[in-house]
Amino acid sequence: MLEINNIVAGYGEVQILWNVSLNVNKGEVVALVGANGAGKSTLIKTIMGLVPIQSGSISFEEKRIDSVSIHKIIKEGISLVPEGRRLFPYMTVLENLELGDYIEKNAKKVEENLDWVFKLFPKLKDRRSQLAGTFSGGEQQMLTIGRALMSRPKFLIMDEPSLGLAPVVVDSVFETVELLYKEGVTILLVEQNVKRSLEIAQRGYVLENGRIVATGDSKMLLGDENVKKAYLGL
Ligand SMILES: Nc1ncnc2c1ncn2[C@@H]1O[C@H](COP(=O)(O)OP(=O)(O)OP(=O)(O)O)[C@@H](O)[C@H]1O
Ligand SMILES: [Mg+2]
Repeated sequence: MLEINNIVAGYGEVQILWNVSLNVNKGEVVALVGANGAGKSTLIKTIMGLVPIQSGSISFEEKRIDSVSIHKIIKEGISLVPEGRRLFPYMTVLENLELGDYIEKNAKKVEENLDWVFKLFPKLKDRRSQLAGTFSGGEQQMLTIGRALMSRPKFLIMDEPSLGLAPVVVDSVFETVELLYKEGVTILLVEQNVKRSLEIAQRGYVLENGRIVATGDSKMLLGDENVKKAYLGL
């Protein structure tokens, strides 16, 4: 579904990603793991068209999407749960959700998408008039995910959704990933919680200093000596 081929990308003169290749098949959950500063968010921003590539290619459903605007990429069916939950605190839950579907002009479709998100997260429906800024950290993450789902994506990219959340809330984030997987949403999951993300994903990639250093079946990666030492504290 998503095919990244040998991309080189960075910021101005600074090269961050070095010949990165990664692919995600329809219906899969794929984990992308790596230390702080490895280039995970840069790779995501590159997929979303926010960082230009210097060479290589990115295709989605066989169509080239590198050097395509973020609006067109969202229209193709890709959506992003950004790092650090960027909500509008003085807007209501409903207003924040509606912003997630700003490219859809058909009011009936917006209503359908909203119904789908409310079905997945009934709590958002009950609290739709509450100001987003008064939500707890976990509730804000749920709203951030809900907002990303408002464009009814086929493919969801999540950038560290469990970061900074209490353990019980981390559980609910991973339950949400499982729920979306069952809904048929294909997911690229970027996480610092290497163990949990590899347990939920079918395959994974390890990014170090802008290079993919390991990839394969999640079970294999969880058993890999280097992965264990570097990321699982074993
Ligand atoms: N806008 C920018 N301009 C210049 N350099 C940047 C920019 N954004 C990120 N970088 C650099 O790119 C490198 C990779 O950063 P990136 O945010 O992709 O890492 P990451 O793997 O997502 O890390 P984290 O786990 O901390 O989120 C870092 O050295 C960072 O300083
Ligand atoms: Mg990051």
